[in-house]
Amino acid sequence: MNRVYIKTYGCQMNERDSEAVAAMLRGRGYRIVDDENACDILLLNTCSVRDAAEQKALGKAGYAAARKKRQPDFVIGILGCMAQNRGAAILDTLPDVDLVIGTQKFHQVPGYLDNLRAAREAGLPIGASIVDIAEEAGSQNTIRDHLDAEAGAAPQVSAFVSIQQGCNMDCHFCIVPKTRGDERSRPMEAIVAECRSLASKGVREITLLGQIVTSYGRRDYRHTDGVSPFVQLLEKVHEIDGIERIRFTSPHPRGFKDDLVAAYARLPKLCEYVHLPMQSGSDRILRAMNRPYSRERYLKIVEALRSARPDMYFSTDIIVGYPGETEADFEQTRELFESCNYDMAYIFKYSVRSGTVAAELADQVPEAEKERRNQVLLDILHRNSEQRTAALIGTTQEVLVDGPDKTGRRFTGRTRGNRVCIFDADPRLIGQLVPLHIERASVSTLYGSLVLAGVSDRAGETHSAPRAAPASAAA
Ligand code: SAH
Ligand code: F3S
Repeated sequence: MNRVYIKTYGCQMNERDSEAVAAMLRGRGYRIVDDENACDILLLNTCSVRDAAEQKALGKAGYAAARKKRQPDFVIGILGCMAQNRGAAILDTLPDVDLVIGTQKFHQVPGYLDNLRAAREAGLPIGASIVDIAEEAGSQNTIRDHLDAEAGAAPQVSAFVSIQQGCNMDCHFCIVPKTRGDERSRPMEAIVAECRSLASKGVREITLLGQIVTSYGRRDYRHTDGVSPFVQLLEKVHEIDGIERIRFTSPHPRGFKDDLVAAYARLPKLCEYVHLPMQSGSDRILRAMNRPYSRERYLKIVEALRSARPDMYFSTDIIVGYPGETEADFEQTRELFESCNYDMAYIFKYSVRSGTVAAELADQVPEAEKERRNQVLLDILHRNSEQRTAALIGTTQEVLVDGPDKTGRRFTGRTRGNRVCIFDADPRLIGQLVPLHIERASVSTLYGSLVLAGVSDRAGETHSAPRAAPASAAA
């Protein structure tokens, strides 16, 4: 009765939280399984950012509840943002849910499951559901356990490290400040120690995570010589031997002051890929959203970063159909979107989130119009992305080798611009930076072959990387 399946919805923060829950559960003797049909305990780690994400998880939980008829001991837990957002009200429609655990209580999940299990093993009647969505001081420090690789499995090359929880920005469309609570940062030393320990286990790439990472430590640390606590943290992680690449998400445009732009010019491990949420290209709508920058300022940041790193890749978040967004406002967004030449973009149709300022606004944009605007931006994105991909063919890119691909016959890795590559390689190259000659591309993947010549491995030896068969024939 100890097989757990965790399904994660939403962002990388949720992925990281699920990973930590899995690590804690494994430490307590639970088994994490990857077949949903073969579990005794189903945990849904949920997202509330848009209504569709909540509906998906609710549908899933409703469907799983039917399983209790066949399997009375089956446990269903709802964790994370939707648990925080809806609380005990979830039980009104889904009385069979056993656990509702909020975003500051992930570390309590093993204890609650132990209690449920003990009660059942003792033959006690199934008690009431457990709802815990309270705030907890210091909960930002609890997301730190990483899953140890199973014996014989390839070592983990990339890891997410949580540096901060919550957000105080109050963007008028956003539910996150409600679901994730106040901004709280972990101590710099604890983050650096975690990164060091990951490096010693073979991790080469760190992604620092938080809702608004550029505000990291603003209440706990001072600027030194004009350098913000976030950039100080980047410097410290940069010093760690073994860490070869640093990424972070999600920043806020407001955080891209000169110190962070300059960090791109002087910290070579910082990958030239920036997620810079724009939301809208209309100053009027940005003001209505309570986003404290203008389109002009946004463009200046893009230009400054491109001059620090000419090969900078950008991704963004856009909301179309914010209440009151006119055709002229959207045209401003379209224009700015086109001029930034994004590598990747997450385009969202505005979704009413009850409890936010925007939910009270009249002048909602009709669904069909949101859909049309969405499509206009998607078409631009596809065009840009095709051009950027075509430009990569024939170049040699530095690729970090992640491990075997899905087929197990070839290997996957990512470029500094975070493009996924598939190629032939040797297992000894996992965790190494190798030059890859890009030969071909599909919509989302690059195919290539390792550039021959000595590729040095971790021990400092050099050996010849096997030359791949022509990718076009092999893939
Ligand atoms: N800083 C956070 C933002 C979380 S929300 C982060 O970690 O990324 C992610 C994105 O969802 C936002 O940038 C915004 O573009 C989108 N979003 C948030 N609320 C939304 C809403 N009510 N409707 C549509 N999209 C929304
Ligand atoms: Fe949401 Fe704005 Fe914070 S998008 S997470 S309130 S920066």
